[in-house]
Amino acid sequence: MTTPVVLLERPADGVALVRINRPEARNALNMEVRRLLAQHLTELGEDEATRCIVLTGNEKSFAAGADIKEMAGAGTVDMMLRNTLKLWRTIYGCPKPVIAAVNGFALGGGCELAMTCDIIVAGESARFGQPEVKIGIIPGGGGTQRLTRAVGKYKAMKICLTGDLFSAKEASEMGLVSEVVPDAEVEKRAVAMAQQIAGLAPLAVQQIKEVVLAGQDASLETALRLETKAILLLFSTLDQKEGMAAFIEKRNPKFQGK
Ligand code: CAA
Repeated sequence: MTTPVVLLERPADGVALVRINRPEARNALNMEVRRLLAQHLTELGEDEATRCIVLTGNEKSFAAGADIKEMAGAGTVDMMLRNTLKLWRTIYGCPKPVIAAVNGFALGGGCELAMTCDIIVAGESARFGQPEVKIGIIPGGGGTQRLTRAVGKYKAMKICLTGDLFSAKEASEMGLVSEVVPDAEVEKRAVAMAQQIAGLAPLAVQQIKEVVLAGQDASLETALRLETKAILLLFSTLDQKEGMAAFIEKRNPKFQGK
């Protein structure tokens, strides 16, 4: 029996870990990987027992980008029919927080995949980049847009126009990663963070994700109204009552996601 190219693990209560598993191709994203990622993220988004997701690869590579061998001979119509935006959408549309645990290469579509996540934990030797220009194309999984929003026009232009790779330290200084840790600690740290988030009020967690992401694309006034509606909504949850009661009674809260 062949091992699936994407694995699902349960490292802690409330936490799912999705692992890209094509080590022989540096975890290049072929259509099978993309379909399985989309399938897992859709299912985990709907699974009540899952409160936070970790997305990772192996110690050498998070993902080395789109599978160049699979697309080298493709024409425009082939690429249109693959409709990868539909698959990406299920990943970035996941309502639960997703943490990228990045070791090794996060290049091209791999860097774009990390950027669809909400938090990025990177190992000290991780290498990021959008090298598409070197093979005659452009970032096609949101890179030109998400990178610009994350690091600003001038850094994004340099990264996309030169295709040069950059270190986890540089990524951190630009605001592209949330935390840099020793390589051996990446997965452990990401799972611990996911466990921490999984223990918090799930509806509040989901509202934070929704408001931060939707607010980015709106005017400040519209985004502030969205935020206000979200906090008002949370005052009709049991978890808001429980969280505040627990604080006053000096005990740990028991959140139910209700
Ligand atoms: N697609 C297909 N195969 C890939 C791949 C990719 N993106 N990246 C690596 N591989 C394969 C290699 O061809 C090689 O296969 P063989 O053993 O059969 O020769 C195997 O993985 C190991 O790779 P290397 O020997 O090159 O390993 P390395 O450690 O020396 O280098 C690397 C690793 C720097 C990641 C290098 O492989 C590399 O530069 N890969 C391509 C990176 C890239 O250009 N990514 C962007 C892709 S385009 C994209 O992502 C577009 C988009 O957004 C839609």
